[in-house]
Amino acid sequence: MARTLITSAIPYINGIKHLGNLIGSQLPADLHARYLRARGQEVLFLCATDEHGTPAELAAAKAGKPVAEYCAEMWAIQADLAKGFRLSFDHFGRSSSPQNHKLTQHFAGRLADAGLIEEVSEKQVYSNTDGRFLPDRYIEGTCPNCGYEHARGDQCENCTIQLTPTQLINPRSTISGSTDLEVRETKHLHLRQSQLRDQLSAWIESKTDWPILTTSIAKKWLNDGDGLQDRGITRDLDWGVPVKRGDQPWPGMEDKVFYVWFDAPIEYIACGAEWVEAGKGTDWERWWRTDKGAGDVRYVQFMGKDNVPFHTLSFPATILGSGEPWKLVDYIKSFNYLNYDGGQFSTSQGRGVFMDQALEILPSDYWRWWLLSHAPETSDAEFTWEAFQQDVNKDLADVLGNFVSRITKFCRSKFGEAVPDGGTYGPQEKALIADLQTRLERYQAHMDAIEIRKAAAELRAIWTLGNEYLQSAAPWTAFKTDPDRAAAITRLALNLIPFYATLSAPFIPDAATQMHDAMGAEPGWPEHADAALTALPAGHAFTVPDVLFSKISDEDREGWQARFAGQRV
Ligand code: MF3
Ligand code: ZN
Repeated sequence: MARTLITSAIPYINGIKHLGNLIGSQLPADLHARYLRARGQEVLFLCATDEHGTPAELAAAKAGKPVAEYCAEMWAIQADLAKGFRLSFDHFGRSSSPQNHKLTQHFAGRLADAGLIEEVSEKQVYSNTDGRFLPDRYIEGTCPNCGYEHARGDQCENCTIQLTPTQLINPRSTISGSTDLEVRETKHLHLRQSQLRDQLSAWIESKTDWPILTTSIAKKWLNDGDGLQDRGITRDLDWGVPVKRGDQPWPGMEDKVFYVWFDAPIEYIACGAEWVEAGKGTDWERWWRTDKGAGDVRYVQFMGKDNVPFHTLSFPATILGSGEPWKLVDYIKSFNYLNYDGGQFSTSQGRGVFMDQALEILPSDYWRWWLLSHAPETSDAEFTWEAFQQDVNKDLADVLGNFVSRITKFCRSKFGEAVPDGGTYGPQEKALIADLQTRLERYQAHMDAIEIRKAAAELRAIWTLGNEYLQSAAPWTAFKTDPDRAAAITRLALNLIPFYATLSAPFIPDAATQMHDAMGAEPGWPEHADAALTALPAGHAFTVPDVLFSKISDEDREGWQARFAGQRV
């Protein structure tokens, strides 16, 4: 049986994620996981919270809580929201887990043994006002690359360049705002990733099937960026994985922790160990070690574009440098940004719709469908309330929901709540089945290729075929003169419901379950449209489901528009 390992970029712990975050990694990863499971593959789908580093410390300080307590609470909240959005992780772990501590220290030890770690005396920014070093997000300033004024000490959000605090122009402390800063020398560990340039370059060049967005960013950093400069993998912070060389102390490094971007991707692997520890699996190395059975696993990662350099260069450098047979990623699906109503979604500014708010307003299927069918694959995309209202009303309520309701109600009133007997499928039905077969194959091809918008468009077209068929076959008219003909039409249309449910389930799992339940049908991927559309025999009982999707009114839309126009409070 084919096996696929799927990971989504692990969300920062520092607060509830917005819809732009969701469509940038977790949601498309879930779509892929659900699809492959439905196609009979064995899937391991892992995600976790990214708990270390300055974002976590700053958020905990803001919440007035000890960082460990803050992280535990936020993990539970994020796990709950993931359930709300039906993200079907096999395990949702934590980068602060003992498993990740151990594995991160293990990797550091292996890299040191391979001569790939250097102890260097580094210039770090020290804040006299705050009485501490200011790594990463503890410092902000103007980006030397693009001039953006709120670049952070680790990366510029605007142009994605990776930075070090001393590169910032007009730097200031994000704790106190102080500009009373000085540069001090302190010892840190550097990963000599430049030593791995040839290996990394050959590996990236071999990935000819990757999305252009992924390879263009990878090659840019590999060839003309600073992506492969040796980088610091330790920090002067309290919260994080203590610096050790395997299980041995690392002299001179006692007060330091590993840099969050060093330990976070290692959590992808550690999460497998957590999955076993939680009693959900028995053998994680079978997924992660090519010497222990993972040779036939296909590994697919999902992430936003700002994450690509870390996944194409830094993390592979850790893995290759270890000299151990860990599974390298086979395919990286990356995303552009989703914007919000003429601007950007922003966590720091509380701008846009956040996951908890979205679920307060509408069930998850509405969001899943809209976000996935507008996934920012080839360019940035934009969420507007008008587009959301229009698309949801049309695709989900008018096309899919209306089809299901219309045919089940018609059948109930004319034939009762069982698939009617009589008549046979004629030329119109055969033509429909042939069309559905063609589109089913295209849908599968897009889903296999993780072309999400194209897949959504094909699915929508498949739904529309049902409506058009019903409209032109008109069983309500046929019933008056030829009840057998009406029975055959109705039988086919009822059979379309479980067919639609199965195909739609990766996008809208709750509605799919409702459709299967109403029809008393088991989900099972259709081998062929022909067989699928005769699956429910005459006499098979069904019930009329509750309304699948209600329409968004202008009043609702205007209310939400106003509610989400400002900052989140
Ligand atoms: N927390 C990061 C972000 O949200 C993603 C980390 S992905 C990992 O951008 F590879 F480091 F795990
Ligand atoms: Zn910049």
